[in-house]
Amino acid sequence: MLNILQISDLHLLPDPEGTLMGVNTENNFKRVLEHAFTQHDCIDLILLTGDLAQDPTETTYQRIHTILSDYATPALCLPGNHDDALLLRHILNQTPVSSEKIWSTDHWQLICLDSQIPGSQAGRLAPNELDFLQQQLNVAPQRPTLIAIHHHCLPTECAWMDTMIIENNDTFLALLAQYPQVKLVLCGHIHQIMDKRHRDIAILGTPASCFQFKAHSPQFALDALPPGYRLLNLHPDGHFETQVYWLDQQDPGLDFSLAGY
Ligand SMILES: [Fe+2]
Repeated sequence: MLNILQISDLHLLPDPEGTLMGVNTENNFKRVLEHAFTQHDCIDLILLTGDLAQDPTETTYQRIHTILSDYATPALCLPGNHDDALLLRHILNQTPVSSEKIWSTDHWQLICLDSQIPGSQAGRLAPNELDFLQQQLNVAPQRPTLIAIHHHCLPTECAWMDTMIIENNDTFLALLAQYPQVKLVLCGHIHQIMDKRHRDIAILGTPASCFQFKAHSPQFALDALPPGYRLLNLHPDGHFETQVYWLDQQDPGLDFSLAGY
């Protein structure tokens, strides 16, 4: 079995003492890691699904590398809309951290996609990204597959958030539907839970490690929920279990008066 810890939307700042929405995002990232590794045995892989940095700098990514390295567990990173994808791949690519797009085990294949549109908050899968996905699915038709991607491919029902949905989600989902080995799509970006299905594929979104957005809100709004993360247990035969976990309390600094994320 492969046990994956998914952490998303760290939004670390250049200054480790800095705050976003009143929250020290670096502390919350550390709290999430500590909680996960204290509460759960046998985490085989940490999967970080984008927005690792709020304002990407070399030192921000280096600090993330240092924090992850303390856990001596393989970590796999992909970029979100706030990240500098090139810088991320340059720095977060030394053992035990990787930003490779493919992670294969004896049984499962993980495919990490880049949904970034440079200069935009929204998501899209560029033609070369879709080609890459299709090639990987063609070469491993029997291997249960997890696809990790920053942006969401099904609506959240938060109107403001859904302006950033993967623009060509129909193309993406139609492609996946041709490959029965695809078992789940994991995203970040939405700072809340998503638990949907598209045909036989689970479409799962995961809370942020920094702070959460309010579900079903037509406009930007924070939620009082604490930092969260997801665990997945992937079985060799292609079935899996998953659960979202929450920390005991939100950062007391969370400032609901701030908007304009
Ligand atoms: Fe994002």
